[in-house]
Amino acid sequence: MSILVTGGAGFIGSNLVRRLLAQRSETVVVLDALTYAGNLENLAGCVDGERCRFVKGSITDRTLVDATLVDHQVDVILHLAAESHVDRSIASAAPFIDTNVTGTLVMLEAARAHGVRRFVHVSTDEVYGSLGPNDAPFTERSPLDPSSPYSASKAASDHLVAAFVRTYRLDAVITRCSNNYGPFQFPEKFIPLMILNALEGRPLPIYGDGQQVRDWLHVDDHCDALILAMDRGAGGQVYNIGGFGERRNLDIARAILHQVGASEDLLTHVSDRPGHDRRYAIDPSKTQADLGWAPQWDVERGLVATIDWYRQHSDWCDHVRSGEYREYYQRHYHTTL
Ligand code: NAD
Ligand code: TYD
Repeated sequence: MSILVTGGAGFIGSNLVRRLLAQRSETVVVLDALTYAGNLENLAGCVDGERCRFVKGSITDRTLVDATLVDHQVDVILHLAAESHVDRSIASAAPFIDTNVTGTLVMLEAARAHGVRRFVHVSTDEVYGSLGPNDAPFTERSPLDPSSPYSASKAASDHLVAAFVRTYRLDAVITRCSNNYGPFQFPEKFIPLMILNALEGRPLPIYGDGQQVRDWLHVDDHCDALILAMDRGAGGQVYNIGGFGERRNLDIARAILHQVGASEDLLTHVSDRPGHDRRYAIDPSKTQADLGWAPQWDVERGLVATIDWYRQHSDWCDHVRSGEYREYYQRHYHTTL
């Protein structure tokens, strides 16, 4: 029996794969299309074709998904594959509908057809929309009110998962986490972009007034919660995962500049993102009570560790920015897997 991680070559997926390999005995199978966000260097040292196997392809390809579930005797699916960047969804929404909605439907239908025991759908707090400064954090009962094409596509996928639970009694749980940060995050996202620009003395682009608030969650804490949701979550339930890490964007950018010893003159206000959500905050009390989860990282310590990671992995950063990482599959895996 094996665990299938879709999107396992991305940021959260690759951290999750390493954690699964370190903590458990099951075979781990990664299904990933290796889009611009997928990078097999994130899984260097993991994929050996035995304990950890890699299948290159899209979750929208039903034939490939069926074959993967059968060939590798998949018992559990951790579904992370997605188009994940809000700004890209504003520029072009269609790929988000293809992967996040149609791809999730394919995964659900295949899981049902092949009797998969458990399906963990990894979603986002962004499906709840935006909070005002004094609003209580999102709970699992907050209404879905997405703002961007990205969050709308994730909300649609959440509804599909809930429909499969009710209609076909698929054993699925939905997790909704806040903004993740940590090693291997693609530097189009806020924290790694700010770190790399600060390290290189380039301007840090701050959208609008920079007073937007995100609830930062270290990727290790998120992965721990996902493994607990897989093991202990009750079918049909939603679990919110947040880091008790509400910070304003400008404060995060300033903390990074301070940590790397760069000047605040690098802060550069640029035009705001259309439809920009003002504040996200998660109430994770249900996840803490029902799954026995608690985050181990606070944002200040996590930022220092993450800045160190980016400093120490300049090769990874260079490959990502030059596009060289896209040749990694060809060089290291194509002929051997
Ligand atoms: P990411 O963009 O770093 O990685 C996504 C991965 O999915 C990549 O490896 C990519 O190649 C793969 N992929 C994309 N389309 C595919 C397709 N059609 N078929 C197969 N693979 C495909 O994303 P991430 O930040 O690791 O996010 C993982 C999941 O967590 C996503 O579902 C995202 O919505 C959710 N999430 C992320 C965050 C965050 O802060 N990063 C917050 C909340 C929720
Ligand atoms: P992002 O990492 O794109 O995550 P999300 O939009 O899913 O929350 O952005 C985090 C916050 O940082 C968000 O409020 C937008 C802001 N932001 C900037 O100010 N500048 C940037 O260059 C980026 C990428 C994001």
